Parts: sequence; C-alpha cells; structure tokens
Amino acid sequence: MNQRIAEKAQQNFTTGISLVSSSGQHGQNVMAVEWTMQISYKPMLIAVFIHEESATFENIKKTREFGINVSSDKQTTAVNIAGGYSKREIDKLKVKNSFKLLPPKKIKSPMIADCLINAECRLVAMKKFGDHIMVVGKVVAISYDETKKPLIYHSGRYFRIGSTIAPFRKVVNVDNATFNWFSTLAKGKFVLKCVGLIIKSNNKILVLKQIKNTPYLTIPFAVPKKRTSYSKVLDAYLKKSDLSTKNNIPILKRLTLKNKKKIQRINFVLFEGKLKQGIKNHTWQFPKSNSLLRVLST
Ligand SMILES: Cc1cc2nc3c(=O)[nH]c(=O)nc-3n(C[C@H](O)[C@H](O)[C@H](O)COP(=O)(O)O)c2cc1C
Repeated sequence: MNQRIAEKAQQNFTTGISLVSSSGQHGQNVMAVEWTMQISYKPMLIAVFIHEESATFENIKKTREFGINVSSDKQTTAVNIAGGYSKREIDKLKVKNSFKLLPPKKIKSPMIADCLINAECRLVAMKKFGDHIMVVGKVVAISYDETKKPLIYHSGRYFRIGSTIAPFRKVVNVDNATFNWFSTLAKGKFVLKCVGLIIKSNNKILVLKQIKNTPYLTIPFAVPKKRTSYSKVLDAYLKKSDLSTKNNIPILKRLTLKNKKKIQRINFVLFEGKLKQGIKNHTWQFPKSNSLLRVLST
C-alpha cells in the first residue's frame, strides 16, 4: 500500500465530532473525537475510538463512564480547544468563554451544554485495534436538542449540513384502482417491495389478472416477505406459470405512486421475461395506455 496515498485517502472520510467528557484521575476533562458512532439500538451502545496517551482514556479506565456530547455546527471553538490540547497541558474546561457544563443525571462526569445530543454512558468494553482503543459505552441517559444541527468534519475542515438531495424516486400519478390495489397490498408499509417480470411483444407488455374477483390487470409480480431471497420468490412464482426469465439482470424501479394527495412508495425489482406457452388470464397492453406500465417498461 502506498502510504502517501493512504494518508490522503484517510482525509476523505466524513464524520461528525463528539466532545467526550470524563472525570477521573486527571479531574474533569473534555476531548474531541471524530471516531464516534452508535453501534446498537437495544441496548443503545456507542463506540468511540481514542488514543491511549489521552488523559480521557485514563479517566475512563478509572471511572468506567463517560459523556458523549455530539457537537453542533456552532461549537468549532470548543472542538478546537478539546482536540488541540490535552488535560495534561491545560484545564480545557476552564478556558474563558469555551464550555458550559450541564449536570449529569446518571453518571458523575460533567456533560457539555449547547450540543446536539448528550448521552451519558457506562463502559461495557475496551479493546485495542491498531493504534486506537475502542471504548464502548451503554447509554444510561440521553437527551437531544432538535434546534441544533451537527458539525461535519471532512478533509481537516468543518462544515455545516447542506441542502438535502432529492430522493431518487420517480413519482407516477395513477388512477384510483391502481392506487388502491398497491396500497392494500402494502398493508401500511412505508415501502412496498415487489419482484416482477417485464415481458414485451410487438410494443405491447404482458399484463395479468392478479387476483380472482378483481378486474385489475398488471405485470406479473410477487411480494417477497422481508429477508427472503427475491430470486427464490420469483422462481416459485414462475413455477406456477408459463413464464420464464430471459436473463438474471435485475432492474430496480423506485417509485412513488400518487393519487390526488395519497402516496404509496413502491420498489420493483424487475427481470426481463418471456412467455413459454399461452397462459390463462394474460393479455397484452400498450404501455403508453397506462402511466405505471409506461414507467415499468422503460
Ligand atoms: C477534529 C478533531 C478530531 C479528533 N478525533 C479524535 C479521535 O477520533 N480519536 C482520538 O483519539 N483523538 C482525536 N482527536 C485528538 C484528541 O482530541 C486530542 O489528542 C486531545 O488532546 C486529547 O485530549 P486529552 O488528553 O485531554 O484527553 C481529534 C482532534 C480533533 C481536533
């Protein structure tokens, strides 16, 4: 590995910055840590990766607790102080106009005011990886301030969160019948995920009557259960029909079906298919005649 390229590449990771507060043999302290992340929901666990020479590490080893204070985009000065000096050098928390402390609820280490998230943690694991120690804490108290925005760290510089990226999802206006059909299938799910077949012949697309007693015709498709293999679901579907796939290249269509003010998100994984023999219930439609078929077939 080229060391020079590796060092440059490392700067291209993007993180937030947490102020890790602690108390212990060095007294009350705060350190800036970019390598902070939540690693479990239940129990809620947070990991920070800190170097062994830091006063913070020795504090945590002693008291087995620490505060994670996720900095807001107004706290660059605090971050520079917490990250630029060691408690061995100066008492950072006492620097004029730098830190306001909050009383902790469950631990003894102080917490830092004006942050996006304040999480009080009890140590559950410590393990050395390379040149840093992974310190994992179980969150025993947490609060957040919705009015604050996170500070972003990239390439040695601080950033604010910018504009959101428009979701890569095509909006398809559909009629009542189509909308009701898919939203009933979705059973309230945020996104309905389907696997389907696109079969074309003479500029037309194959549509089927999907369920008895409904007049609705659409492409052959199935709704896989969560975490089941799409290809197995498709194979099972194909076994019952006279259809087959032409290749195994999946095409993903992320759509938002819209009918007046109602919306239903739907993701289709589509495969190109072919008709082996004549099957019951199928018919051919011009995709142009139907907004959903038009999007699915192109
Ligand atoms: C923006 C920024 C991010 C930092 N991220 C980390 C980190 O993830 N892990 C780490 O060990 N040190 C990190 N540091 C360095 C420590 O904050 C620094 O060594 C600090 O002086 C340690 O303080 P202490 O000895 O009082 O505990 C970072 C510094 C800055 C400025």
